[in-house]
Amino acid sequence: MGPRLVKIASCYFIIGVFFGMFMSITHHMEFASVHAHLNLVGWVSMALAGLIYSVFSKAGASKLAVWHFWCHNIGLPIMMIALALLVGGAGNTEPIIAVGGIITTLAVILFVINVFKHVSLPSSPVDQEKAYRAKN
Ligand code: HEM
Ligand code: HEM
Repeated sequence: MGPRLVKIASCYFIIGVFFGMFMSITHHMEFASVHAHLNLVGWVSMALAGLIYSVFSKAGASKLAVWHFWCHNIGLPIMMIALALLVGGAGNTEPIIAVGGIITTLAVILFVINVFKHVSLPSSPVDQEKAYRAKN
C-alpha cells in the first residue's frame, strides 16, 4: 500500500497547492480550511503513511493497511467536496462533511492499530540465523 498512498498523496499536493493559489489570486480566504486539510490530511498525512508502509513492509502488506487505504481515500474526498460546497454557499452539507470526517477518522484509527501491531525493527542477522537454525 506504501507506493500507492505516496502517489495519491502527490495528487492531493497538486490540488491543495492549486487551491492555495486560487485563494491568493481571488482573495477567497474562506476556503482556508479546505486548502489546509487537502494539504495536511491529503498530502502530508497520506505521504507519511505511505512512507511508513514502504519502510515497514509488514505493516504495508497487512489487511489493516488495505482498510486504512480505502477509508482514507473514501472519507477525505467526501469531507473535502462537501466542505468546499458548504464554504462556497451551495447549501447545508454538514451531515455529509460529518460522514466523510467519521470515515477519515476511522482510517486514522486503523492506521494507528496497524502501526502498533506491525511496525517493529527488523531482527538482526544473528537473530535471523538463530530463528533459521531453530526451524531447521
Ligand atoms: C503554492 C502553495 C501555497 C499557497 C499559494 C498557499 C496559500 C494559502 C493562503 C492564501 C492561505 C490563507 C491565509 C489566510 O487565511 O490569511 C493559506 C492557509 C493555509 N495553508 Fe497554504 N498555501 C500553499 C501551500 C500550503 C501547503 C503545502 C500547506 C501544508 C502542507 C499549507 C497549509 C496551510 C494551512 C494549514 C493554512 C491555514 C492557516 C490558518 O488557518 O491560519 N499551505 N495558504
Ligand atoms: C477527520 C479528520 C479531521 C477533521 C474532521 C478536522 C476538522 C477540523 C475543523 C472542524 C477545523 C476548524 C475549521 C474552521 O474553523 O474553519 C479544523 C481546523 C484545522 N485542522 Fe483539522 N480536522 C481533521 C484532521 C486534521 C489533521 C490530520 C490535521 C493536520 C495534520 C489538521 C489540521 C488542521 C489545521 C491546521 C486547522 C486550522 C486551519 C484552518 O481551518 O484554517 N486537521 N479541522
